[in-house]
Amino acid sequence: MADRLDLDAAIVEPITRAVIADLAEPITQVLDVGCGPGAVALTIAALLPNASVTALDSSAPLLTRVRHRAEAEGVAHRIHTVEGDLDHELPTLPSADLVWAGMVLHHVTQPVATLQRLHRRLRPGGTLAMMEFGRSPSVLPADDPLIASGTWSRFQAATTAALNDRLGLDPVAIDWPALLAVAGFVDIDDRDLEATHPTPPSSTVRAWLVPHVERGVEMAGDRLDATDADALRAFAARVPHRDDLAVVARRRIVVARRPAT
Ligand SMILES: C[S@@+](CC[C@H](N)C(=O)[O-])C[C@H]1O[C@@H](n2cnc3c(N)ncnc32)[C@H](O)[C@@H]1O
Repeated sequence: MADRLDLDAAIVEPITRAVIADLAEPITQVLDVGCGPGAVALTIAALLPNASVTALDSSAPLLTRVRHRAEAEGVAHRIHTVEGDLDHELPTLPSADLVWAGMVLHHVTQPVATLQRLHRRLRPGGTLAMMEFGRSPSVLPADDPLIASGTWSRFQAATTAALNDRLGLDPVAIDWPALLAVAGFVDIDDRDLEATHPTPPSSTVRAWLVPHVERGVEMAGDRLDATDADALRAFAARVPHRDDLAVVARRRIVVARRPAT
């Protein structure tokens, strides 16, 4: 799972970079909640060389991975790991200028209570930036047979339905601005951003795309018929040899502030 999360983070890294670059105020304390294996914490540490990053997750093995990577990349003095559960009170932490919550808040059971906890971890005037699911990625050229046959749109619909079933909700439909307002946040900005990877696909894009399709077919199960599933598996097998694939990955970014007073 950690490798898959790293590839997902790499595909949307241009979005992460754009959001961090947009934050005007000086940031010296960052809290990355639901940090996973740490790809984003490391990106943030690289983009903000004066910042300390507290990386929090409920999974101890993922936090071990964060520590190893921080050591390997020479930033262990600026990245600290903390085990914590966003569904419960959080441990005592330094007051944050920025709380980053990447692909995690759709997991919590009581979003407003969790947002209130994050609000308390911010300094007055501090920023919460959330990354959440956006629309499905584009991958294929418009004249690809998988588009003409409808296989690709059935794949996208089936994987979205499977994800919603697994999560027990439709993450794209969550009204985060309303929940953030109830939790006391202001200046709420909700937007969809894209990360574009032009042709020919890099080794990272290919490494992300093969399991994206194979795992998607597996997750979709009998939502896809055998003909579609076979065509998609054959496509995945050809990804290492296809130079005409351009990926546009999409994420929803919601940024909000704790009031300054
Ligand atoms: C989809 S991964 C996202 C990882 C990383 N933020 C990124 O964007 O690459 C979700 C992470 O949230 C963590 N997580 C899920 N529920 C959590 C909770 N209640 N408290 C803390 N972490 C949680 C999982 O262990 C996992 O590492």
